[in-house]
Amino acid sequence: MVKRNKNFAKLQAGYLFPEINRRKKEFMEKHPDADLISLGIGDTTEPLPQVVVEALKEVADEMGTVEGYSGYGDEQGLTELRKKVAEIFYPGLIEADELFISDGAKCDTGRLQMMFGNEMTIAVQDPSYPVYVDSAVIMGQTGSYVTEKKQFENIVYMPCTAENDFFPKLKKADIIYFCSPNNPTGAVATKEQLEHLVRFAKENDAIIVFDAAYAEFITDPNLPKTIYEIEGAKEVAIEVSSFSKPFGYTGVRLGWTVVPKELKYSDGTAVHNDWNRIMTTVFNGASNIIQKATLRSLNDEGLGEMKRLIAYYLQNAKIIKDALDKMGYQTYGGDNAPYIWVKTKSDNSWKAFNHILEETQIVTTPGSGFGPGGETYVRFSAFGHRKKIEEAVARLQKAVLEHI
Ligand SMILES: Cc1ncc(COP(=O)(O)O)c(C=O)c1O
Repeated sequence: MVKRNKNFAKLQAGYLFPEINRRKKEFMEKHPDADLISLGIGDTTEPLPQVVVEALKEVADEMGTVEGYSGYGDEQGLTELRKKVAEIFYPGLIEADELFISDGAKCDTGRLQMMFGNEMTIAVQDPSYPVYVDSAVIMGQTGSYVTEKKQFENIVYMPCTAENDFFPKLKKADIIYFCSPNNPTGAVATKEQLEHLVRFAKENDAIIVFDAAYAEFITDPNLPKTIYEIEGAKEVAIEVSSFSKPFGYTGVRLGWTVVPKELKYSDGTAVHNDWNRIMTTVFNGASNIIQKATLRSLNDEGLGEMKRLIAYYLQNAKIIKDALDKMGYQTYGGDNAPYIWVKTKSDNSWKAFNHILEETQIVTTPGSGFGPGGETYVRFSAFGHRKKIEEAVARLQKAVLEHI
């Protein structure tokens, strides 16, 4: 019999969202008439912009013709799409060939780990999007899970708390994962904070992996939407981003990663070259139908639709946050981010999750799923139909949530 990759045994209780789904299913089996409202996983709910739908149909029709058919494309993405994405999201900041189109930010995060290999040390914000830690474990970058600390050996945890305004004291590691707007806390780093981060990375020979999947939720013009707004960032930072949240592409799948040519390893090799090698080796390009349709949709109409979708979810966030604030909870985020991070009385966030589920039939996300720093929090997601959000708020206001 073949020996299993021993790193899998180190992972804790499955990936967070499958675990939430398991508990949801279990609850539904016990209460088959329950009307669950999911404010758990950050999955978009509003239909695709019409401009995208039309473009998808058009491109699909063309693919059914001899002239319009295309097969494998460049693994790095359609040249025109790379140019367009660079022009819209990084005006004057990067070159189009530094941007690689992909099937999403999560997939790129996994492929980045493959590129880094198993000898890197990583630092993460605590709490953070679980993919950084779990992919590091699978790659073999970590030791075992230490139950008392609720941490993996050889991962550097940087606590993000209300006291430090959710911007951590930075710590030394080869790779620093940093997400802004943050999942799960909803915090957005200021320009000064990102300048500090870039300076720290330079002084400590670290590479920043900046996750900007929620950048389009930033409506405050003073807050940076990309790490490349910071001088010198191209020498130290990779940025991953995505159409998932702004365009409702969570199921459609399209994202990108920027690897600037200035970014080098200690032996002088450009990281860009290795990333190109990864993308051409284990990736075969994002779907040509999606890429072409997106390219055609990135016009005034499409970008207007994007703004409308973002505004819709931000209004949801405001409804949830205002209600929880009025109920006396300490809430964070939700202004330039689709997540509201809520402090609870409970010392165990799975208990708080269960309590909310039992009392209101609302699914949230327990903070501990994002790391030990989330233990006394739950996350509410603002992705949902407005009616459901309003219903959820009404239920919360009626419920007796004495344990949270
Ligand atoms: C911080 C963060 N990065 C990346 C992703 C995944 O993005 P994608 O759908 O492009 O894979 C998510 C999804 O929830 C996320 O929260």
